[in-house]
Amino acid sequence: MRKTIIEPFKIKVVEPLVQKTRAEREEILIRAHYNLFLVKAEDVTFDFLTDSGTTAMSANQWAAMMVADESYAGSRSFHRFKNQVTKITGYEHVIPTHQGRASERLLFGVIVKPGHRIPSNNHFDTTRANIEALGAQAVDLVIPEGRIPNQEHPFKGNIDLGRLEAFCKEFQGQIPVGMLTITNNTGGGQPVSLENIKAAAEIYRRYKIPFILDACRFAENSYFIKDREPGQGSRSIPEIAFDTFHAADGCMMSAKKDALVNIGGFIALKNDPWVEPLRNQLILTEGFPTYGGLAARDLEAIAVGLDEVMSEDYLRYRIATSQYLAKRLNDMGVPTVKPAGGHAVYIDAAQLLPHIPKHQFPGQALATELYLQDGIRSCEIGSVMFKEAAQMELVRLAFPRRVYTQSHFDYILEGFEELLQRTRLLRGLEIVEAPQHLRHFTAKFKPVSH
Ligand code: F0G
Repeated sequence: MRKTIIEPFKIKVVEPLVQKTRAEREEILIRAHYNLFLVKAEDVTFDFLTDSGTTAMSANQWAAMMVADESYAGSRSFHRFKNQVTKITGYEHVIPTHQGRASERLLFGVIVKPGHRIPSNNHFDTTRANIEALGAQAVDLVIPEGRIPNQEHPFKGNIDLGRLEAFCKEFQGQIPVGMLTITNNTGGGQPVSLENIKAAAEIYRRYKIPFILDACRFAENSYFIKDREPGQGSRSIPEIAFDTFHAADGCMMSAKKDALVNIGGFIALKNDPWVEPLRNQLILTEGFPTYGGLAARDLEAIAVGLDEVMSEDYLRYRIATSQYLAKRLNDMGVPTVKPAGGHAVYIDAAQLLPHIPKHQFPGQALATELYLQDGIRSCEIGSVMFKEAAQMELVRLAFPRRVYTQSHFDYILEGFEELLQRTRLLRGLEIVEAPQHLRHFTAKFKPVSH
């Protein structure tokens, strides 16, 4: 096989790449108070803020949108969407929602009560927030390796089965649902093995706890299983995905990731006890059950995207992107969380910039320098985001699907080589103004004086 993994698509629609000078970006950054969330997207060259909702859609997806049936009730597009989800998952009941967190709010709203506890490998922020908003507790039980940034492990997203068993035993009766996030977003998309998914399912079944997957990157997880799990190499991605879903009782999905669309989500369930109350809630806040807050054209795009995402050529290229970037960065001496996950690479800014103390935000210093140098927008995940609770000073580069090419990444890597020559010149930042909660979105910074 050739070394070079090519983009498995031709490009039909293009958008110009923003190219500003460093001097222009300096002014933009000052106006944005050194907070990349306050920079306009039109001033960003490489937007690695998130892989969510930033996909480039295919010609087939756009074509399907044109023939969508926008009927309020019983639309043809809903049935196409529903049949696709059922084919992939085996789940009979499919409830469309406008995105992942809407699924979370609806499902938890129906089944979670104050005092409940919900285990997972790691809950995503919105999942945790929706659980906590109902007075319940979100509990993370990822394997110990999953908490150590430099520890290599093929399935670093696995749940700790011993702890899960003990947890279910101790709190049986207080657990309305058990979860697993595939891939585990914490650490940039670390996979969960099929063996671990099935073993977790067995524990949940023994304690009569319904098992719901957070499946927004299920195809990337299936590819990792095929690539890394003994005995899975010769199986197809749809077979592995089907086994994954078959082990659980249902899933919640933000379609903004592995359904290759810009908006959308769904809840899909094997059995019906929650379906009626969910549909009633859906009508109250999202829309009629055959569109759930989406346009029919969104449902069409999801139906096509769910098929395209399981192409092996696509997934090989997709996973190669983060692995390629991480390997080249490591080779030149830029430390990252290991191994690279599916949708993102995390740079260890504390290690890269040891002269900048935690309270001067090494992650924010690196993120703002990456913007100044090459127009890269990344996200600090460290002391700005978590205050004193931050255990690491990371910068996340998350990759939109089918948007940037190999030469974009090579160009960025050249930029890192230049940056490495002058890391000692980078300065830390101080906060000028910040709100009480979620300060990373709106905080204002300035560079510390020499
Ligand atoms: N679950 C996981 C694992 C996620 O990564 C996300 C979103 C959600 C649920 C919520 O879905 O955004 O459609 O409401 N993750 C994005 C990210 C925002 O950047 O990682 P949503």
